[in-house]
Amino acid sequence: MSNANITAQMLEFIQKSPTCFHAVSQLKEMLEAAGYREWKEAEDWKAEAGGKYYVTRNDSSLIALRIPVSEAIKGFAAVKGFHITASHSDSPAFKVKEAPELTVEGQYVKLNTEKYGGMILSTWLDRALSVAGRIVVKDAEGLASRLVNIDRDLLVIPNVAIHMNREINKGVEYNPQIDMLPLMAGGLENGGKGALLALVAEEAGVKAEDILGHDLFLYVREPGKTIGLQDEFVLSPRLDDLQCAYASMKAFVESKPQKYVNVCAVFDNEEVGSGTKQGADSTFLEDVLMRAGEAMGVTVTGYRQLVAGSFLISADNAHGVHPNHPEKADPTNRPYLNGGIVIKYHGSQKYTTDAYSAAKVKELCMRAGVPFQTFANRADAVGGSTLGNISASHVSVSSVDIGLPQLAMHSAVETAGAKDTEYCVRMLKTFYAE
Ligand code: CO
Repeated sequence: MSNANITAQMLEFIQKSPTCFHAVSQLKEMLEAAGYREWKEAEDWKAEAGGKYYVTRNDSSLIALRIPVSEAIKGFAAVKGFHITASHSDSPAFKVKEAPELTVEGQYVKLNTEKYGGMILSTWLDRALSVAGRIVVKDAEGLASRLVNIDRDLLVIPNVAIHMNREINKGVEYNPQIDMLPLMAGGLENGGKGALLALVAEEAGVKAEDILGHDLFLYVREPGKTIGLQDEFVLSPRLDDLQCAYASMKAFVESKPQKYVNVCAVFDNEEVGSGTKQGADSTFLEDVLMRAGEAMGVTVTGYRQLVAGSFLISADNAHGVHPNHPEKADPTNRPYLNGGIVIKYHGSQKYTTDAYSAAKVKELCMRAGVPFQTFANRADAVGGSTLGNISASHVSVSSVDIGLPQLAMHSAVETAGAKDTEYCVRMLKTFYAE
């Protein structure tokens, strides 16, 4: 498939994924279409040769598995280990608080929100925004979770006019409780109390009083697009990390393993430290791999042997050299957009890449005919963290940190390369075909 097609599909995936819950729902659709069936954590699992399964937790993290079937695999005895990719489903956004409506002088209704993750606050100003997420509703059988997306231009967080702040271009400190609350309506009766949940209820086709819980986030309405003289760039919300999540899942569903159990893990809550029951710093991956081993009839020792033979590729976007600030990049490790897979290194091992795992991913790139480049932080800069070392602390396997190069990470709208998604798919298909 061409670059342009894969980029268009990836942008459609991102547009249909305004929140982590929607992203996981989209991933499930890709899996169901490819013949995967759900393993529920509260039920018994049985694995068959050639079996295709997936597990979700909290509707916001997902792990899919494909068990090999080939002449070489007799009763799973020749399975060598797990071939795992890990990416994340969440992006920084504003979370809607309980009882969110706030009124200003009887003339405006705005929403009370708080930060989820670390975003570039100013980039959320003066854009059409809306609200999406999941609600938990009381129904005849108990409590049920539903996805919601208010699919219309609903909100704006307006800037303060330059005439009211002449210093605005010298850098502004934004207070999230004061400066970042979105305007939803003009003056409403009763101060607009309950107006948002009423809208959400209408959208979900339920009664507002039956909504007992919600995880609702603001999202940018603007759809992703390609830009540049030759359409060489992608401009879209949530490229970190839905670009890698999409590429990983696409490679996963289109590959047939030979000697490894293929695993595609997409975790929620990377942007807030991964420390939730469904995050990378939970038992989710370990639980699923151990139970998959059991379902295959593997002993405890056999499971340890599988882990020893496993490999994990943590795929989370990377910083490309910035056109206006090339000095921010390391002097010799300088990734560019459309330059291919970025292998990330960190002396103190915030990135898990080591000589062996770097060699492994370079060899995969070479076999796939995909370019690769390297990233390291400047020695005088503190970088971000990611999934690899967190998940490796639970399932200790050989692992590498990679990403696709992008600009403006954690802006409301980020920029990446139009070729790199296809490179990632091609490299991961080589990995998943082993
Ligand atoms: Co990320």
